[in-house]
Amino acid sequence: MKIKNSTTNKIYQGNCLEEMRKLPSNSVDLIFVDPPYNLQLKKDLKRPDYTNVNGVKENWDKFKNFEEYDDFTKKWVIAAKRVLKEDGTIWVIGTYHNIFRIGKILQDLDFWILNDIIWVKTNPMPNFRGTRFSNAHETLIWCSKSKNSKYTFNYNLLKSLNDDLQMRSDWLFPICNGSERLRYRGKKVHPTQKPEALITRIILSVTNPGDVILDPFFGTGTIGAVSKKYNRKFIGIESEKKYIKFAKKRIELIKPLKNMRMLKTNEKRQQKRIPFGRLIEFNLIKPGDILHDFKKKWHAKVRVDGSIITENFKGSIHSVAANLLNLPSCNGWTFWYKYEKQDSISIDVLREKIRSDLYKI
Ligand SMILES: C[S@@+](CC[C@H](N)C(=O)[O-])C[C@H]1O[C@@H](n2cnc3c(N)ncnc32)[C@H](O)[C@@H]1O
Repeated sequence: MKIKNSTTNKIYQGNCLEEMRKLPSNSVDLIFVDPPYNLQLKKDLKRPDYTNVNGVKENWDKFKNFEEYDDFTKKWVIAAKRVLKEDGTIWVIGTYHNIFRIGKILQDLDFWILNDIIWVKTNPMPNFRGTRFSNAHETLIWCSKSKNSKYTFNYNLLKSLNDDLQMRSDWLFPICNGSERLRYRGKKVHPTQKPEALITRIILSVTNPGDVILDPFFGTGTIGAVSKKYNRKFIGIESEKKYIKFAKKRIELIKPLKNMRMLKTNEKRQQKRIPFGRLIEFNLIKPGDILHDFKKKWHAKVRVDGSIITENFKGSIHSVAANLLNLPSCNGWTFWYKYEKQDSISIDVLREKIRSDLYKI
């Protein structure tokens, strides 16, 4: 169901279990969840110089026992599943205190885990008492609504962000500090404000401009700030008035990117089809040219109608490659190369040239 525009780009104060009930079913593209950690901190944690460490001591992080935490988790997971679109995804962030419990509940309730991402903190807090390893990462679980969902994954965008290397599941970001960290009279406004860089990677990887993102534990509104910047819509739910006040001010100051062309990504699914024959029409390949595979083991000659021919087989770039490899199918675009002076060039690169000339990507 489509969500009304008037429902988005707003922060709702209240318990997310009740607030989510007011949203239509199958209506949001992404749910980002940064729930209470259930840190179970009983007394103040001290540094060696006896100053207090800023842990999460707020009431919203207090649960009687694991049973109560699991019960709460099940309730928000069920509520989230109802509002998520069939092809939407959910991200949940947590630490060893809660993430394993949440992961089990997500699987039990038929979410399909796509990845777990390790956020490696480049500036973690030391283990002051020296009794354990320094806790230098958080885990994010990324799930689709079901095994068969056709979820969004901007693979090419991520690869391009990563100097043309496939993006890995270990992400390095500092914890939120410096001018980005919201403070009031020198004190941090929120104990667990997430860094915008981490949220930016999530939003860019699994949403498109105009998509609706729900954050049921909004805190200082990091999701809202990054959504606004990249022209996504957000719905924030937060129980504490004091955080909402700061989140609103923060989001107001964000200027969305105006040039929508700069927000366009080059994902395979969205690309316009270019048949092989177009390379001939554009004079990038001529009838009679010889194509070869990467290792130059196989060769084929190009015909004027866009088919190619070997000694004993004629067909499309795909069927000839499949025939040579004795496979049911093969992607000819990545199989074939054209000789160019002393070098060779992939026909996929030639296709990309036409695509960018025609569609000004
Ligand atoms: C881990 S923090 C989220 C921080 C946030 N991602 C940020 O970058 O600022 C969890 C937030 O959930 C809120 N919260 C806890 N229980 C809630 C509930 N039942 N409904 C709505 N908000 C809740 C807390 O007040 C807290 O701000």
